[in-house]
Amino acid sequence: MEKKIVDILKQNHQEQLLEFLPILTPEEEEKLEQQIEKINFEQLQQLYESTKQKPQIEEKKIEPIKYVDKYKLDQAKKEELENIGRKIISSGQYAVITMAGGQGTRLGHKGPKGTYALETVNGKKYLFEIIVDTLKKAQKEYGVTIPWYIMTSKENHAQTVKFLEEKQFFSYDSQKVKFFVQGELPLIDTNGKVILDQNKTIKEAADGNGGIYEAIAQSEVLSDMKQKNTQWIFVSNVDNVLSNFVDPLLLGLTVKQNQKIGAKSVVKTNPKEKVGVFCKMNGKPKIIEYIDLPEEMAEERDEDGELFYGEVNIGNYLFHRSVLENLADVKLPYHAAFKKSGFLKPNGEFVEPNEPNVYKFEAFIFDSFVRYDDITILRGKREEEFAPVKNKEGNDSPETATKLYNRQQ
Ligand code: UD1
Repeated sequence: MEKKIVDILKQNHQEQLLEFLPILTPEEEEKLEQQIEKINFEQLQQLYESTKQKPQIEEKKIEPIKYVDKYKLDQAKKEELENIGRKIISSGQYAVITMAGGQGTRLGHKGPKGTYALETVNGKKYLFEIIVDTLKKAQKEYGVTIPWYIMTSKENHAQTVKFLEEKQFFSYDSQKVKFFVQGELPLIDTNGKVILDQNKTIKEAADGNGGIYEAIAQSEVLSDMKQKNTQWIFVSNVDNVLSNFVDPLLLGLTVKQNQKIGAKSVVKTNPKEKVGVFCKMNGKPKIIEYIDLPEEMAEERDEDGELFYGEVNIGNYLFHRSVLENLADVKLPYHAAFKKSGFLKPNGEFVEPNEPNVYKFEAFIFDSFVRYDDITILRGKREEEFAPVKNKEGNDSPETATKLYNRQQ
């Protein structure tokens, strides 16, 4: 191994990698050297230090956030807002992004989550297909083919593209579909050391959906949007089979409230539900993710008995294009998650642990919202807007999502 690479490893306390040299072919060694040169070990060290601190909410001024309840709007107002949204959509100024870079480990599906299928009243439906169905419905309703951008990660890009090509994009116009790839970060063990994967490269994973801003900036997405005169972009998770992402009401409301970001919410069912919740922190819009919400806060209720932090983020966001332009070089904080990951031992043995053994670092798309004074929030009904496929069984599983999907058909 070249001296400068050995020096990098020593300076950053990653000498354990040298123990693998005997089992590496010259090609593998060269590949590893190239990877080592690209990794920001200083940042990794800081991230490791951050794992030793307990999650806490330092800022104290936390208040509930204002929202508009879809079902409390009177008909005339609703129509006025929807008309504003409809005009924008049918003039071709609306685009959709699906965030599909995640691993979907909780579901236990091998392959990109969008390639998972449900058995529905409409037959077998892949998660990607359900998204295309909504796009096709909008095509009929508004007379435009909405551009669809899909964010993938290095781990699942090739498989995602292959799947959609093989399925011929479920007969959506493939000219209107574009992929872009998000960044990744190395995993580290409890001693802050990087690990090797089966293929003898340092194991890295997608850097969270907050990587979207950088990924967009580094791709052709923004220039494509500019050229198409896209003004508004709806960004959503891949796994919510009720995601109503061509929604003139949210669009009209966001325009009318003069905001640049809109989002949808539903009411939290119980304090333990694994979702992010909206609030205002130090006067700015914020989502506190479930891993960061202390239990006492999750249990807190107001005088009506409603959960104080009960406005659920369903992963449906609306952005004015200027937001994506302004956030192109945003630096978001990373959140650490403790996960299970297989790793190579210096003797070439690959170990699959039974317990979590590594930290994975993820930025969250909504951590940029604090940069804005306010956002629009539209509260909808869970049974109409939110049926995510997260777990193999129980809550938010294929079974529950299929039931809710079937009910809406
Ligand atoms: C997410 C939200 C949570 C919300 C819940 C609703 C985040 C960080 N949290 O939680 O507030 O209540 O959805 O269902 O968004 N993704 C990428 N790249 C990554 C990681 C994730 O594209 O590196 C995508 C996933 O493919 C998915 C979406 O982001 O479409 C959400 O990620 P996921 O890990 O499923 O977040 P949740 O824990 O479900």
